[in-house]
Amino acid sequence: MEVVIKKNGEECCSLAAKLIAGVVRQKPGAVLGLATGRTPELMYSELVRIYREEKLDFSKVTTFNLDEYVGLSPKHPASYAYYMQEKFFRHLHISPAQIHIPDGLSKNVPASCDDYEEAIRKHGGIDVQVLGLGTDGHIGFNEPSSSLSSRTRIKTLTQKTVEANRSQFSPEETVPRHVITMGIGTIMEARQCVMLAYGESKAEVVAKMVEGPITAVIPASILQLHPKVMVIIDEAASRKLRLIDYYQFVYKNKPEWQRYE
Ligand code: F6R
Repeated sequence: MEVVIKKNGEECCSLAAKLIAGVVRQKPGAVLGLATGRTPELMYSELVRIYREEKLDFSKVTTFNLDEYVGLSPKHPASYAYYMQEKFFRHLHISPAQIHIPDGLSKNVPASCDDYEEAIRKHGGIDVQVLGLGTDGHIGFNEPSSSLSSRTRIKTLTQKTVEANRSQFSPEETVPRHVITMGIGTIMEARQCVMLAYGESKAEVVAKMVEGPITAVIPASILQLHPKVMVIIDEAASRKLRLIDYYQFVYKNKPEWQRYE
């Protein structure tokens, strides 16, 4: 695991955007795994800026999102399809056929999950997967105790996650309890992962993910077994790590050819 500590969330997102842009420049037909939530919002706006100002071409890229609420239409403002459209896709030249998001309205959830897995395989697998981190250690919506080799499927959210998501819904709405999420096994097959986490509220779980034991109770800890993960965090989220000095030393001495900035 490579742990990169930046000053704040904005710098974290800017580095993640540079990394994604680098992948797309090197492989114009790259397959991107994408996340939603508050964390990557600035990464998407930075990628849109790079698209506009540096003419980064997304027209051959394929995307797969991590998750979607069961029962929400893509037109619902709290759906992840809506989020992606608003924050990213509508600003780019990218055809809807290249965009994949789990179908929250599917009449046959298990079959649509199998189809999602098949589509990822048919596109040659994910080149780079962007991840956010739940304060309970979830990645995608693989909540604590998820099978570490799970595939795309329906999951029940924890009450904590339901509460964290409540702000996206109006007060009279019920926050969905179920989501379709890529599995941990699916995420682990991505050739590269970029984990973004910032702010004090993530400090404890970041330490567990990076320096704690690998356990299904902290699903993100499985990333310790992934061959290529960049964990981009800010100073506030790094506070509970034991090896901060080493991570900073490594980044400072990183060979030029391995750098994105
Ligand atoms: C979203 C997702 C989730 C979020 C996580 C953190 O697609 O898969 O795992 O990344 O819940 O959410 P924020 O960024 O809102 O703190």
